[in-house]
Amino acid sequence: SQNIYILAIESSCDDTAAAILKNDTLLSNIVATQEVHQKFGGVVPELASRAHQQNIVPVIHQAIAEANIDKKDISAIAFTKGPGLMGSLLVGTSFAKSLALGLNIPLIEVNHMQAHILAHFIKEQNYKIPEFPFLALTISGGHTQIVRVDSHFEMKVIGQTIDDAVGEAYDKSAKIMGLPYPGGPLIDKYAQLGDPKAYKFTKPKVGGLDFSFSGLKTAILYFIQKQVKENPNFIEENRNDICASIQYTIVNILMDKLKKAVKETGINQIAIGGGVSANSGIRKALNEAEGKYGWKTYVPKFEYTTDNAAMIGIVGYYKYLAKDFTDLSVTAQPRYKI
Ligand code: KG4
Ligand code: ZN
Repeated sequence: SQNIYILAIESSCDDTAAAILKNDTLLSNIVATQEVHQKFGGVVPELASRAHQQNIVPVIHQAIAEANIDKKDISAIAFTKGPGLMGSLLVGTSFAKSLALGLNIPLIEVNHMQAHILAHFIKEQNYKIPEFPFLALTISGGHTQIVRVDSHFEMKVIGQTIDDAVGEAYDKSAKIMGLPYPGGPLIDKYAQLGDPKAYKFTKPKVGGLDFSFSGLKTAILYFIQKQVKENPNFIEENRNDICASIQYTIVNILMDKLKKAVKETGINQIAIGGGVSANSGIRKALNEAEGKYGWKTYVPKFEYTTDNAAMIGIVGYYKYLAKDFTDLSVTAQPRYKI
């Protein structure tokens, strides 16, 4: 049968990304990360859309060049319709529509959160693909969800954050400590050098499979303010221990809810996705859960954790097979449910 080539575009937040897939195999995966937000301690939407506008053409050119294919070979364009920042999504959406129109090929809309989950289906050597049904823990700067996944397209959110996302908890804690944005990876780095039980932060009390992280952030803020009042060098002197304690608390919160979800659903296959799935603490805890609780766990390749277009492309591939195309009247959707 004929090969399917998908050009995928992702622009939901602050990364401009393009990828080419040949069926379920990745040929190229380009990400332009926007540095402009660093000095603001968070993503500035207006600046993000401007940077997407500048990056999108070179990023797509590079993706096509590295895939070593001809534009004429592309079977369809897949793009992120949402969820995300409106101004950011509009750049990718408009570009994808124009390209599909210009090349006269089908257009495929993709839900970013579904893509974080289906990233596990990109073909890799020596890589196990989750079996249905499984539970997906999607953890990023914008989302924290537990999703029951029954097929490539049948997904149901069974738990989610009622306030901040886990990535936000990481980034805001990092900001309190004076670390640059995004602080998640830095907390992770220092955490590995510290004592996780040095300081104790209480876990939030939220019902069911839902999460809450805003109380934890406030607790960390008050704790650090109080310590700094007594010792102005508190943060510098105890950075590793503070980070390790924060990480320990967050990983415990995530694992507690996963255990509850496994108990409630009877499903013990767990896949993680989203930027925070790069975290060494959660990776280690999941790995241990295989032996401890008999779970089967799936951790994505590092390049598929933070925002990328490869994951948009794999959804595009499955939708192409299902002939699930979008017409050119489609618009971006900042709040787009799974
Ligand atoms: O999926 P993503 O790239 O963008 C969103 O859709 O939000 O996730 C970005 C988030 C940021 O909050 C970043 O701090 C966090 O993922 N992150 C991490 C790590 N790597 C990225 N958080 C904790 N530990 C990490 N190693
Ligand atoms: Zn994401």
